[in-house]
Amino acid sequence: MSKDTVTVTDNASGKSVELPIRTGTHGPATIDIQSVYKELGYFTYDPGFTSTASCRSDITFIDGDQGILLYRGYPIEQLAEKSSFLEVSYLLMYGDLPTPKELDAFTTNITNHTMVNESLKDFFDGFHYNAHPMAMLTAVVSSLSAFYHDSIDINDPDSRELCAHRIIAKMPTIAGAAFKHLVGEPFVYPQNRLSYPANLLNMLFSRPSEKYEINPVAEKALDQLLILHADHEQNASTSTVRLAGSTGTNPFAAIASGCAALWGPAHGGANEAVLRMLEEIGDVSNVPQYIAKAKDKDDPFRLMGFGHRVYKNYDPRATIIRETCHEVLDALNMANDPQLELAVRLEEIALQDDYFVERKLYPNVDFYSGLIYKALGIPTQFFTVLFALGRTPGWISQWMELVEDNEQRIGRPRQLYTGAAKRDYIPLDQR
Ligand code: ACO
Repeated sequence: MSKDTVTVTDNASGKSVELPIRTGTHGPATIDIQSVYKELGYFTYDPGFTSTASCRSDITFIDGDQGILLYRGYPIEQLAEKSSFLEVSYLLMYGDLPTPKELDAFTTNITNHTMVNESLKDFFDGFHYNAHPMAMLTAVVSSLSAFYHDSIDINDPDSRELCAHRIIAKMPTIAGAAFKHLVGEPFVYPQNRLSYPANLLNMLFSRPSEKYEINPVAEKALDQLLILHADHEQNASTSTVRLAGSTGTNPFAAIASGCAALWGPAHGGANEAVLRMLEEIGDVSNVPQYIAKAKDKDDPFRLMGFGHRVYKNYDPRATIIRETCHEVLDALNMANDPQLELAVRLEEIALQDDYFVERKLYPNVDFYSGLIYKALGIPTQFFTVLFALGRTPGWISQWMELVEDNEQRIGRPRQLYTGAAKRDYIPLDQR
């Protein structure tokens, strides 16, 4: 019996199957269970994929117990401090840091694709004035597939690369249009002389009536937030992109399905939920009452921005962002913001409370990102759009990896059927 295998024996039939162990660079090895059904006639059961690797991937590594996050091997702390969002996008897509020439060419490429077709812009007119921006983003990203369907050949590497450049370039333009629709102001065209985050700020906040100065603190903080959100291995939205992509669908449609999955409050919608929760708590004096609610099993209330499926230690992104949050609030003269005070108090109490300690519930990245967005003047409803924008290079890199992986097949999970046993139809007049 090989040391690199695990033997599973069915006690009922006495049949055994030897399953290969596959080892990666970091992290737990995986048991390849592909032959279990064929050899033993069993499916495996793992709701929420808590123990199942759905793919192999070279892109991102997380050690949730140690609080480690690496993009292509580089620690997130180093990237957040020294890199830029476009450089990180290049890294995620191509696997290595670019040379200055490569980064220049990549930046030019992205910059040249920031415009959207004028008729795509018209889509926004169809939305009600108070449409949720994630609904607009999801729909408009999906509609990109109507503009680039016949021209995309997902089997051609150049065509895939062009798609990736287009989506990274156009996301801020679409996000800017959704924002302007939300606030009832005219659409602002992209300015290719500006950096990626500065262009985004300009599309969000500039108005035809006055000159808009980019605040360098806001530009830097936004770039860092985008870096921190750029990829997170096989999370719910990325897995959704992969599952949709596994059918060979148009990549813009696959990314739109990722946007839809991200929207939920258990995932990307959490930053919005954090701010709503802080508004609901209202005052530091109410914190103990809300901590008690979060601990009460009969109460559905959860502390938003706390806990993570993978991190059972401090989320490394939360450590970085906590510091940035204080810097931004200081620079914008908002250090005494009552909501920040409330957030800090909530964090202090939760980190000492046995309930949270025992369950390893630490603040996650969304606990602080919402506070920064708020300080930058971004409405709560819009937070998840910025998360989606940051996650786009991760989604598209994972989609590219999926398409290039010869082990991947259409994603088609099995189930444990617990419904009615086979029965005969009874005509209506006999029921
Ligand atoms: N507040 C109170 N209790 C919590 C919280 C919370 N935020 N999160 C988990 N718990 C408790 C659960 O009730 C459960 O307790 P039990 O063992 O006594 O039943 C235990 O901790 C484990 O929780 P699960 O839901 O099983 O953990 P899971 O890994 O499935 O969920 C999740 C992770 C969804 C992130 C959860 O912690 C949560 O809902 N957090 C709040 C929402 C949030 O901040 N989401 C952002 C995630 S990060 C991101 O997407 C960028």
